[in-house]
Amino acid sequence: MSGGLRVGLVGVGIISETHLAVLGERGDVALEFAVDPRLEGPLVFRGEEVPSYGEPAGALAAHEVDLVVIATPTDTHAELAVQALTLSAARVLVEKPLVHDLASLDRLRALDEAAGVPGRVFTAYHFAFSPEVLWAAGLMAEHPEWGPVTNITSAFYDPYVARGEQAFASYLSSWMDSGVNQLSMLARFVDLTALTSVREMDGGAAAWCTCEFLSRGERGLARLRTSWLAGSSSKETVLTFARSGVEIWIDHTAMTGFAAREGALLAAHGDDGRTPRKVAHYRPLYESLLSGRPDPVMSFATAARITELHHTAPAR
Ligand SMILES: NC(=O)c1ccc[n+]([C@@H]2O[C@H](COP(=O)([O-])OP(=O)(O)OC[C@H]3O[C@@H](n4cnc5c(N)ncnc54)[C@H](O)[C@@H]3O)[C@@H](O)[C@H]2O)c1
Repeated sequence: MSGGLRVGLVGVGIISETHLAVLGERGDVALEFAVDPRLEGPLVFRGEEVPSYGEPAGALAAHEVDLVVIATPTDTHAELAVQALTLSAARVLVEKPLVHDLASLDRLRALDEAAGVPGRVFTAYHFAFSPEVLWAAGLMAEHPEWGPVTNITSAFYDPYVARGEQAFASYLSSWMDSGVNQLSMLARFVDLTALTSVREMDGGAAAWCTCEFLSRGERGLARLRTSWLAGSSSKETVLTFARSGVEIWIDHTAMTGFAAREGALLAAHGDDGRTPRKVAHYRPLYESLLSGRPDPVMSFATAARITELHHTAPAR
């Protein structure tokens, strides 16, 4: 980029550390401000203090920025995105999920004419950028002879049970948090068509859902398990190509994968262990966002589709 990208950060919590680490690697980025009512002192970015605010309106009035990053609790995204869209001309990268309910999606859609929402709003669906996901998507593209994906099983575990109410405050529920990660990751492989069942359990700390999809024009079914009742983080997805007998297993925790047919290993993907997992997600995400041709998986259209799917299960 020429001239540098002026960024404003709203929300300085856990995931902001990854945004700041990746933005800090880029010579083309300047951090203009940080907003968080809980900030106790100025944020330091590349060794310098960044102007800090308790709410976004003051920051947006005092600074012209090209990108506002919203990394706040999920149920604040819609209000803060509306403020960023109406009080600035910047693009807005919102942490996933874009919004927590359909009314908030409608609120953003209603702003479209005034604020140019599709051209300005992007969602940080970081799992879609994880190395093993990009590897598996590339492998599938290289092997059309494997036929359509017929079944998917994905299980995402986070040990958030130990964080108690704080996990619910930041992420609302396991399905709200990980279900969105699963759907946005699966959007790399198949066209998701309908959520066919949702069972939330354990007070929202776990869920079991099914989602229909199309793969090479044929219908398949994904089974999605999410849970915070876990001893450590563990996330895995299996794509089955029943017609050819091929399976792709991807481990999102280890960022690894393999493809096999019966006893034969067809392909494998490893990781050099040098890049922290979240940095490995957000580095390509920012590269894509700032490339001038953002990956469609980050687009408002994709976020609207995923939000609708996520919230429109027929039975609970
Ligand atoms: N933690 C992760 O690994 C992770 C990964 C990907 C995405 N996310 C998403 O990022 C978002 C934030 O998650 P987190 O883990 O960083 O939560 P967090 O609770 O650690 O941080 C959120 C921060 O936002 C601040 N905040 C609250 N309201 C605000 C407001 N109105 N204006 C400015 N700041 C405000 C809070 O004071 C807090 O410091 C969530 O939507 C989550 O789904 C989190």
